[in-house]
Amino acid sequence: MASFKQIKGFVFDLDGVITDTSLYHTKAWRQLADKLGVAWSKDLEEGLKGISRMDSLELILKTGGKENDYSHDEKVALATEKNTNYVNEIKKMTPDNILPGIKDFLDDLRNKGYLISLASASKNGPTVLKQLELVDYFPKVVDPATLSKGKPDPEIYLKGAELLGLAPEACIGVEDAASGIQAINAAGETSVGVGDAKTLSAADVRFDDTTQMTLANIEKAMA
Ligand code: G6P
Ligand code: MG
Repeated sequence: MASFKQIKGFVFDLDGVITDTSLYHTKAWRQLADKLGVAWSKDLEEGLKGISRMDSLELILKTGGKENDYSHDEKVALATEKNTNYVNEIKKMTPDNILPGIKDFLDDLRNKGYLISLASASKNGPTVLKQLELVDYFPKVVDPATLSKGKPDPEIYLKGAELLGLAPEACIGVEDAASGIQAINAAGETSVGVGDAKTLSAADVRFDDTTQMTLANIEKAMA
C-alpha cells in the first residue's frame, strides 16, 4: 500500500459508493431473472455489482444454466428491457439520494486540492451525476464505452488515474464491489472499500458505511 502522503487523487466508483443505485440495479435485474426463471441469491446479487450490463445478463443466464438459450439480438433486447426499468428509477433521483457523508467527503477532497475522477462501468453514470447535482465534482469521467475489459480487469481504474494525469500509486480507488476492489488492486492503486467485510476482504482499507469514509480516517488506516 502507498503512504497517505503519496496520494494526490481519488478514482470513484458510483453505484453503491456515491449513491444507492445498486438497489435499483438489483431490483431491475431481479425482475428480469424472475421473468427468465432464474433463481435469485445473495451471491448472484453481489456478483452483479460492478460488472457491465451485458456481463451482468450473461452471469444471470449462466446462473440459471440458460447461457445458450438466447440469440445475440434476444440478449440485447433483454438488457435493454432491464435498462428501461432502471432508467425509470434513476429519473426520480434527487440530491437527497447521495449517500450520507459523501458530499462532505467530496468537498473536503476538493478543498484540499485532491483530483477526482469517476470509474463506473455504468453507461448511465453521467445521468446519475446530473440527477444528484454532482457533475461539477467529477470533471473527469471514464467513458465505459471505450473499455475493452470490465472490472475486475484494472483497465477502468488505470484510465481513471490517467485522466487525472497521475500515476496509479498516487491514487486511491473507492469501491463497494469485490470485482472493483480487485480492479483497483490490479491497477496498483490503494483500495478503499465501503461495505461488508467478507465481500471486501481484499481492500487495503475498509469502512462499514459512507459516513466513516473521511480523509482523516483514511489517513489513520494507511498509517
Ligand atoms: C455498475 C453497477 C452494475 C451495473 C453496471 C452497468 O458497475 O455496479 O450493477 O450493471 O454499472 O450499468 P449500466 O447503467 O450501464 O447498465
Ligand atoms: Mg459499485
